[in-house]
Amino acid sequence: MSGIALSSARVLLIIGGGVSAYKSLELIRRLRERGARVRVIMTAAAKQFIAPLSAAALSGDKVYDDLFSLTDEAEMGHIEMSRAADLIVVAPATADLLARMAQGLANDLASTTLLATDKVALVAPAMNVRMWVHPATQRNVATLRAQGVLFCGPDDGEMACGEFGPGRMAEPQAIVAAVEAALTRPTLLNLPMSVGKNANAGDAATLAGRHVIVTAGPTREPIDPVRYIGNRSSGLQGYAIAQAAREAGARVTLVSGPVALTAPPGVELLRVETAQEMLGAATKALPADIFIGAAAVADWRVEQAGESKLKKNAAGPPALKLIENPDIVSTLAHLNSGRPRVVVGFAAETENLVENARRKLSRKGCDLIVANSVAPGTTTFGGEFNAVQIVTRDRVEPWPQMGKLDVARRLVRLLAQSLDNHI
Ligand code: CTP
Repeated sequence: MSGIALSSARVLLIIGGGVSAYKSLELIRRLRERGARVRVIMTAAAKQFIAPLSAAALSGDKVYDDLFSLTDEAEMGHIEMSRAADLIVVAPATADLLARMAQGLANDLASTTLLATDKVALVAPAMNVRMWVHPATQRNVATLRAQGVLFCGPDDGEMACGEFGPGRMAEPQAIVAAVEAALTRPTLLNLPMSVGKNANAGDAATLAGRHVIVTAGPTREPIDPVRYIGNRSSGLQGYAIAQAAREAGARVTLVSGPVALTAPPGVELLRVETAQEMLGAATKALPADIFIGAAAVADWRVEQAGESKLKKNAAGPPALKLIENPDIVSTLAHLNSGRPRVVVGFAAETENLVENARRKLSRKGCDLIVANSVAPGTTTFGGEFNAVQIVTRDRVEPWPQMGKLDVARRLVRLLAQSLDNHI
């Protein structure tokens, strides 16, 4: 479901309880002016700020507010209500509503509809600036973004409470523009493989409710502000794994070195440059159920990177003293507390593939190694295909050459199965 014109769109508007709820009345008017059909759900708190009758008059439909209304549920169940919409808009999205969405709570019609939906939600937060910047709210926002929830605002400005800063609800015309933009992209959620419309018979293993951290791409180790040590990793395999894990329903954090790729939808992207930054970001993203180290991490860095550009001089080329970088896979696999249940490493080898992969498995303490050959003549680095061998403590499984996304999906399926049945 994508490429819907606003003039024929069906918008389900959830109005939360905030001072800016009055602006939602104008939002209804503007959406309808553009031809969209608007159905409104109000929370109990919203009714303290605006009258349901105003929203009903402007939307041309009754306002829904009661999860336990026999008539409403008979006429239009809360599940049907979200199914019958192209997009869900939450405006104003209060701190409380965002928290309930992030937690998956379902204790009123608004939150139940948001949990039961198979449609993308676009939220327009509105709250006091301190509530917005509070780590709890920011954590909820990050969770929701990672799930593919779209955000419009909040804007900076003077607030009803007299304070100044981010927290004002975006203006109705900005929300209309965001709705229009959201409708140009798929609005059907990418639900786990075994659920709903995307059901894939016989493929019960999913990662719904799991957190997966993936590292991808190369790292860059500075020599001075303009030069670095890097490698040829394109990031394709790591990004494909992040996409496959997301498709399987996981919350995915992708810690990526510099690459020319965009993050798959719904995946939280953390950009880093150096191995140390990559380790820091991955550690901070814990806890996780699965960690997959697909990055080509530079083994060494320059001990004293120049603070200014190194210049040529009579003394000849500079001697670069290299020191070893921390091993990210090994560090996470050896954590005493908070170790991800399954730790996966890659082994890029030019010779003795399986033997070296086995050694790496035990040295790094991981549960599974994806071994691939990067010998001259192979196109693993930068290419679209990969021929890998899956190496665990007690078996080696050669997979035929496949596209990197197919490798990723098969790997994700294997990991989903292994979570309940430790490899
Ligand atoms: N890796 C890591 N941190 C490092 C180096 C490597 O997390 N500092 C991870 C890679 O992401 C990959 C795995 O370790 O999952 C193996 O990388 P590879 O370059 O093949 O192995 P090395 O550790 O460099 O070992 P060797 O030099 O013996 O090949």
